[in-house]
Amino acid sequence: MDKLLIDGGIPLRGTVPVSGAKNAALPILIATVLAPGEHRLGNIPDLVDVSSMLSLLGRIGCPSLVDGDVRIDATRIAYREAPYDVVRKMRASVLALGPLLARCGEAKVSLPGGCAIGVRPIDQHLKGLEALGCRFELAGGYVHGRVDKLRGAHIRCDVVTVTGTENILMAAVLAEGTTVIDNAAAEPEVEDLARMLNAMGAKIKGAGTRRIEIEGVTSLHPAPGGYRILADRIEAGTYLVAGAITGGDVTAVGADAEALAPVLSMLESAGCTVERAPGSVRVARSGPIVPVHIETQPHPGFPTDMQAQAMALLSLGVGTSTIRENIFENRYMHVAELLRLGADIAIDGSLATIRGTPKLTGATVMATDLRASASLVLAGLAAQGQTEILRLYHLDRGYERLEEKLGALGARVKRASEGRGE
Ligand code: EPU
Repeated sequence: MDKLLIDGGIPLRGTVPVSGAKNAALPILIATVLAPGEHRLGNIPDLVDVSSMLSLLGRIGCPSLVDGDVRIDATRIAYREAPYDVVRKMRASVLALGPLLARCGEAKVSLPGGCAIGVRPIDQHLKGLEALGCRFELAGGYVHGRVDKLRGAHIRCDVVTVTGTENILMAAVLAEGTTVIDNAAAEPEVEDLARMLNAMGAKIKGAGTRRIEIEGVTSLHPAPGGYRILADRIEAGTYLVAGAITGGDVTAVGADAEALAPVLSMLESAGCTVERAPGSVRVARSGPIVPVHIETQPHPGFPTDMQAQAMALLSLGVGTSTIRENIFENRYMHVAELLRLGADIAIDGSLATIRGTPKLTGATVMATDLRASASLVLAGLAAQGQTEILRLYHLDRGYERLEEKLGALGARVKRASEGRGE
């Protein structure tokens, strides 16, 4: 297992290229199952989760080739199952449900179960797919769905769910008649999936809002000329916070200021200078970190996927900040580790109270999930002395070439085996 060693205290400066969005890549990769033929996808990040999705596609019978772009041959579907050993590694395998049901009339997906950030049920996925005519049985840890004919329906999600909306969307595109999804997730990644599906011949309107309308079509085809996925707003936001927390000046090239709006306004409130340009965002800080109050919400609210990173920043503020985590019930796993670096944070249910401290000090900490790990990297970059982050594999699920990108900004970061010291 790898660990990351960070010698902190260096202001990060320069430009960093933003990779393709993990949470757009995952649904878009599996959406290729909807149309026979060869698909070409551009800007797919090289991440462990992407490899897991490609291996799931391989298990289903859709081989892939990575030659800069990712090419997937979805001519034939041999199996209709996402087995436990794949789902266990990556919850997003549940996204196979909608496309397999739409293409084959059957799907068997291992139930994802909980994870470090919460229980994460899939009742809304099943409710939406049932409204389209699917029937489900739960047995042996699997959800087994069947459908003779998908028919459009009016679906109202009880909670806003990103992958739930995506699953319903991927089935509805091939349903007979019109489907409306109310209280849909409006995240930019849902919008990107809809854009790709439209390029494949689907008829979707309203993606990126709370109400999506889908007019079913009888068949889809690979997007002519391929499809290039959008930039990762969470990766971009993480590097911009790296500039902010170290008192540096970082430009994220490829970042979309609109998709990052709630994160950028938080950074401005915290005392940073933010420059928005077409295709890039720059964040610099020279003054103190001003306390702010944040509540995570579905898009366009403040993203839960940036909550841990914001907390690292605010732990060095000049007063008391608060964060309320409204999306996941257990997404404070990073707090105990931030305390080991000298942060002063108290948790009361979903509310975190962060009393700013003048400095953090390097220590050995343990990563527990992807974004928790990112917050520890950020804290380590600002801390005095060396920080050692164990269980680096969490970061490899979501950050492409992390050490290289941080190194190019001037950080002293290196990867080592957990068995060895420096
Ligand atoms: N929920 C239900 N029932 C459902 C589905 C969701 O109660 O059927 C609840 C969840 O338990 C949670 C809330 O609804 O409390 C929102 O969960 P959502 O379904 O939106 O999360 P997700 O689709 O499983 C995606 C991202 C996450 C991101 C969340 C929220 C992907 C592959 N994953 O997860 O990304 O945190 O949306 O924005 O898109 C990450 O990248 O680190 C990550 C965890």
